[in-house]
Amino acid sequence: MANYDVIIIGSGPGGYVSAIRCAQLGLKTAIVEGRETLGGTCLNIGCIPSKALLHATHMLHEAEHNFGEMGLKGKAPSVDWKQMQTYKANVIGQNTGGVEFLMKKNKIDWLKGWGSIPEAGKVKVGDDVHEAKNIIVATGSEPSALPGIEVDEKTVVTSTGALELGKIPKKLVVIGAGVIGLELGSVYARLGAEVTVIEFLDAITPGMDAEVAKTFQKLLMKQGLKFTLGAAVQGVETKNNKVKVTYKLRKDDSEHTVDADTVLVATGRKPYTTGLGLDALGVAMSERGQIKTDAKYATNVAGIYAIGDAINGPMLAHKAEDEGMAVAEGIAGQQPHVNYDVIPGVIYTHPEVGSVGKTEEQLKEEGRAYKVGKFPFLGNGRAKANFAGDGFVKMLVDASSDRILGAHIIGPMAGDLIHEICVAMEFGAAAEDIARTCHAHPTYSEAVREAALACGDGAIHM
Ligand code: NAI
Repeated sequence: MANYDVIIIGSGPGGYVSAIRCAQLGLKTAIVEGRETLGGTCLNIGCIPSKALLHATHMLHEAEHNFGEMGLKGKAPSVDWKQMQTYKANVIGQNTGGVEFLMKKNKIDWLKGWGSIPEAGKVKVGDDVHEAKNIIVATGSEPSALPGIEVDEKTVVTSTGALELGKIPKKLVVIGAGVIGLELGSVYARLGAEVTVIEFLDAITPGMDAEVAKTFQKLLMKQGLKFTLGAAVQGVETKNNKVKVTYKLRKDDSEHTVDADTVLVATGRKPYTTGLGLDALGVAMSERGQIKTDAKYATNVAGIYAIGDAINGPMLAHKAEDEGMAVAEGIAGQQPHVNYDVIPGVIYTHPEVGSVGKTEEQLKEEGRAYKVGKFPFLGNGRAKANFAGDGFVKMLVDASSDRILGAHIIGPMAGDLIHEICVAMEFGAAAEDIARTCHAHPTYSEAVREAALACGDGAIHM
């Protein structure tokens, strides 16, 4: 039993970042985590392990498709799945160990076990009840189930099971063409699986700029992924380690089936708040199971705050991190602000997709007068040298002020390139500000500048 200024429940990116900021601001802080390692879904079974598999399989793709042309001769590497899993585990270990080090460095106590809140001001972990002036719920999210589909994490899996399949499937059916489905679908397609993605809507990646989504789908199809769009999955039947997926096409209600060795259910996630005791405390929740919070992340119960996937907004690690810092600063008496209009979204396929701000569809819907500046990576020297000429940078600016309203990049390192535009948007910049900034040659970043130039008198290399 101990007394703290702040106890944070959950050690994912939201929770551990918040803990560090609390400690930096002089607050006596503890973090509660029931897993063996810190870091939450992101580090243990999400962002980090999936990026390790995406990196390894992209290297395989390069060896198989591009090495020969560069004069790098020899047989393409064979896949040692067990070793790839070991590599992935090592990457996880380095990251979770890093968070543990940061907790120690900042003198943050790790209260090991699953926490609950018996009453405001108290957190129970195992048999111990600790006192805290402020409690921050950062418990994240879990995959949302699809009615009638039983997940065993072996043949019918969520992202958790998909990261550690016993073997590489010959046929993988992915339900849901969102971020998880396409990232993990890409991994297994590169490893030789026949991948079919079944999506309820008529386009992939709902909410993405439609022009980018279309190009993205075409590029993924070139890599061998198959898509069945406008299809509602009815059920999944498992027999002798084989799976049959039944779906109905929405246009004519016709029923179809597809066989697979493995099915990945990637139809979204939902807040995880089980066992915290929020109901008994009277913490207000939305219909979607999110904890309701105000602008300072306070719930309706004094002294209890919530951040990240457990509250409203995009379920993204970096959004949770920003909220984690902001809630800490608010508790310490500062006036923090998270700008929800400038939160980038990235899909780590190849090519990557990075976006921020408004899509063209949103601007049309708002009736806003806008201009589009576009530049293809085919016109970028570095991209040509690196077999990365697919895709483009698309910048959307206000028609009269030239202020940047949004940007959508599909292409090499899009997830890094997008941040130049994020910074520009935070400064209220115009496309001309980027266009007049000297960009090193030869870099992919030049494509961003060219798109900015295209908003004015024209791109140069097009
Ligand atoms: P998602 O919301 O991105 O996509 C789910 C897809 O499933 C949607 O396209 C939806 O229309 C479709 N769907 C829903 N029900 C269906 C049905 N019955 N049949 C066929 N299709 C159906 O969800 P996802 O990919 O599971 O990701 C969950 C969360 O995790 C997202 O918020 C995502 O942003 C986040 N995430 C982010 C990553 C990143 O930033 N790179 C990586 C992985 C996850």
